[in-house]
Amino acid sequence: MCGIVGYVGTENAVDIIISSLKKLEYRGYDSAGITVLNQKLETYKTVGKIADLEKIIPANFTGHIGIGHTRWATHGKPETRNAHPHLSSNIAVVHNGIIENYMKLKEKLISQGYEFLSDTDTEVIAHLLHSTIKNNTQFSLLDAVRHVMNEMEGSYAIAVLYTAEPDHIVLARKDSPLVIGLGNNGFFAASDVTAFLRYTKNAVYVNDKELVLISPTGVEFYNNDGQQIEKKVDIIEWDEEAAEKAGYEHFMLKEIHEQSASIQDTYAGKISELEGRVILDELKMSDDQLKNLQRITIIACGTSWNAGCVGKYLFESLAGIHTDIETASEFRYGDPVLCGQVFTLAITQSGETADTLAAIRSSKAYGCKAAAITNVVGSSITRETDSVLFTRAGPEIGVAATKTFTAQLIILYLMAIHMGTVRGRLTPENARDILVGIKQLPGQVQKVLNNKNIIKECAEHYAKVQDYFFIGRHVNYPVSLEGALKLKEISYIHAEGYAAGELKHGPLALISSETPVVAIATKGHTYEKVLSNIKEVKARGAEVIAIANQSDTEINKYVDMVLRIPDCHELLSPVLSSVVLQLLAYYTAYARGCSIDKPRNLAKSVTVE
Ligand code: F6R
Repeated sequence: MCGIVGYVGTENAVDIIISSLKKLEYRGYDSAGITVLNQKLETYKTVGKIADLEKIIPANFTGHIGIGHTRWATHGKPETRNAHPHLSSNIAVVHNGIIENYMKLKEKLISQGYEFLSDTDTEVIAHLLHSTIKNNTQFSLLDAVRHVMNEMEGSYAIAVLYTAEPDHIVLARKDSPLVIGLGNNGFFAASDVTAFLRYTKNAVYVNDKELVLISPTGVEFYNNDGQQIEKKVDIIEWDEEAAEKAGYEHFMLKEIHEQSASIQDTYAGKISELEGRVILDELKMSDDQLKNLQRITIIACGTSWNAGCVGKYLFESLAGIHTDIETASEFRYGDPVLCGQVFTLAITQSGETADTLAAIRSSKAYGCKAAAITNVVGSSITRETDSVLFTRAGPEIGVAATKTFTAQLIILYLMAIHMGTVRGRLTPENARDILVGIKQLPGQVQKVLNNKNIIKECAEHYAKVQDYFFIGRHVNYPVSLEGALKLKEISYIHAEGYAAGELKHGPLALISSETPVVAIATKGHTYEKVLSNIKEVKARGAEVIAIANQSDTEINKYVDMVLRIPDCHELLSPVLSSVVLQLLAYYTAYARGCSIDKPRNLAKSVTVE
């Protein structure tokens, strides 16, 4: 995830910015840069680590005002020309977030004669500011930033330097974090407090649509109407390690809590709710190609495979396309029957899983068109496939996949709706229904998170059991697999996910009062069937924890505990149920004293067979 920093004061800005950027390294990044203003803007940037940036900075590079950035690629590959800061003549900008309408703005700026040196959305901000000031000569930098905020759609925290106003930095935010540090020898700005905690513990959190001006003598805060406002100063009690996790005890818990933002970032710019359609140019498939598509073969491992399994239901029910889901390690040594009409889809958060890469290579040998869903721009899978759909979940540090899983689901919804609309299976009205539902997910995820205490109580209650079962039907079947996988990998409890209707074909023999069963019983066309399966396991003495919708008043009669999710479209419930299951696994592992972020025997990126 990108990180921005800024400093103005009496100390050497270069040293402070470099040390602050190092503190943001934990967020994950692929390139970095710095600009210092000494009458003119002097910029250094590079692909790689902060240590690589330090190597290219000359010893005499100093100053008292500057901005810096760690970039985690979203628009454009990790290349030096895409690293921030981005410049437009006498203006330099660093940015964290995504400008959704950047293509439209870019076209407008190109028609005005602006030349773009990068593939980023951020360069648009620099040129937009430049053109705003050029066309409104009475504007200060603060006026220009306020003006440009009204033109930009999406999320941003930005810091701007302007040679004509050499003693201050202007900052602004919308849907992307920004915090100001008040030091004795200057003022700091950053995406999170970790960056400047060694210099000051006095911080002011910037709210959406607010602007800030920091100078050597003070800080001014403004609202979007240009009126100066007062803000409260917080004293940060965290040490640096706690701050990296934003105060959460584990990265996994932090990442679970980031999901309402990561879901929103993933669908940003891809939904036209008004027209009831999805904008998915990245898929690089014409309407004719989509209409003629006969089969989709999804290839993935682990949690990504579980997401793919939800995808199978979506492609079949929303787009009417026969879909297979293959485990990459099996597919690569099998004898798949494929032909040019089959579209293969690799799902891999890291983009580096050896089995998935090998399987997709072998599918290409059959002449299939291949696409990938991944979270990492520039990863190996992006070079192996014809098209790439990026999840924008930000780096995931906890080994157990959480926010990348729900982001993968979002891309799968968008793909299935897009294909279904093009193929005439979905009317714009049907599509709009689900798209409206997708846009409600961030708020609904937040509601699930707000109720985490009951999930914690449930986890603690069953923390000592040796076996768990998870059951569900249709799209909730893969959710049960994911719930079981999450629990076993971090709590080391044996857990099985089953299609609820399959229990009676064997596993029912294992059900007893010692095996709690989590039944995903959200409203939908299989709800009644799941109720029957709940009765089946209750009759064998099992205690049942149901995941059910908020408005379901019937479910309490049949189960021992209910974990609620907001009411939603039946196909969208996997996103919300998964958040419940992630929290259940987290709190169970916590109660058992397990190593949550680094479970035994597991690695974040599996680059070996
Ligand atoms: C489980 C988990 C793994 C990965 C699997 C594939 O929490 O993270 O099961 O999903 O190793 O990894 P990617 O998605 O990087 O291909």
